Amino acid sequence: MSIATIRTVADLRAVVNGWRRNGETVAVVPTMGAFHDGHLSLVRIARSQADRVIVTLFVNPKQFNNADDLTNYPRTEEEDAEKLRPLGVDILYAPHVGEIYPDGFATNISVGGVSEGLCGTQRPGHFDGVATIVTKLLLQTGADHAYFGEKDYQQLQVVRRLVRDLDIPVEIVACPTVREDDGLAMSSRNLRLSASQRFTAPAKSDVLHTVAERLSVGGPVAETLESGRKALLDAGFREVEYLELRSDDGLCPLDRLDRPARLLAAAWLGDVRLIDNVPVTPIQDNQPVQA
Ligand code: PAJ
Repeated sequence: MSIATIRTVADLRAVVNGWRRNGETVAVVPTMGAFHDGHLSLVRIARSQADRVIVTLFVNPKQFNNADDLTNYPRTEEEDAEKLRPLGVDILYAPHVGEIYPDGFATNISVGGVSEGLCGTQRPGHFDGVATIVTKLLLQTGADHAYFGEKDYQQLQVVRRLVRDLDIPVEIVACPTVREDDGLAMSSRNLRLSASQRFTAPAKSDVLHTVAERLSVGGPVAETLESGRKALLDAGFREVEYLELRSDDGLCPLDRLDRPARLLAAAWLGDVRLIDNVPVTPIQDNQPVQA
């Protein structure tokens, strides 16, 4: 049997209300489809933590800054539904654009602070688009738990901030980045890499891990980041858009590793932009506390 697909908010609410009456908990996994194992890992975690699981599939026009990017975004709903089938998902919620943004739609959710810098610099309006759709999906599903990948670390922080600021009663669950065997973070963009670019791409995670390790043992931040940028260019990346150390919660720029942090990078291989990030923990945090 194929998964029940729902297209309207009214139908979605009717089903969720039925679950609620039975006292069941609800998880939501927001996506734009074209599933790979990264997406499916979120679904598996959701499945293990709630009675009911909704996967949303909506290619959100408001978060694309480039019309070609939106047109070319892979739309593979049938294959996606097939991939969900063995995972015990209750509903695929795949609304049409008019259901989400009806005529006259005029509201924009804009999250300050964490949306600025990093991906926010190159993609103006992107995080407003993400914040607006995620708010709508959380309110439409009324989920108790919502699952987001650490792969898009800045997005995760934007979602955490808006949920706190708007008092949306949902727990945001961060899920670890799923990687290929050679370390490359899974992404639908990886399919656009040529064979030689695909060969180069794992250098990104290698460099991130090396830089994170040097920083965690006290390497000077500015110099260590600079050597990381150089290593990426030497490995064959055309441009390093950013390689930055930020606090792991509010994403404050750090010039000293004085708290738990995240090392985040965006770099270009030809015309493919790859993002990735890893945690950086000051080494003293790993030391056993003396009695
Ligand atoms: P999308 O790119 O389809 O990603 C859906 C979810 O899968 C996001 O939470 C993303 O972080 C997670 N994900 C992607 N690759 C991953 C990987 N390799 N490992 C772990 N998780 C991974 O992100 C979006 O859609 C949209 O912006 C959305 C939140 C749905 C709003 O439109």
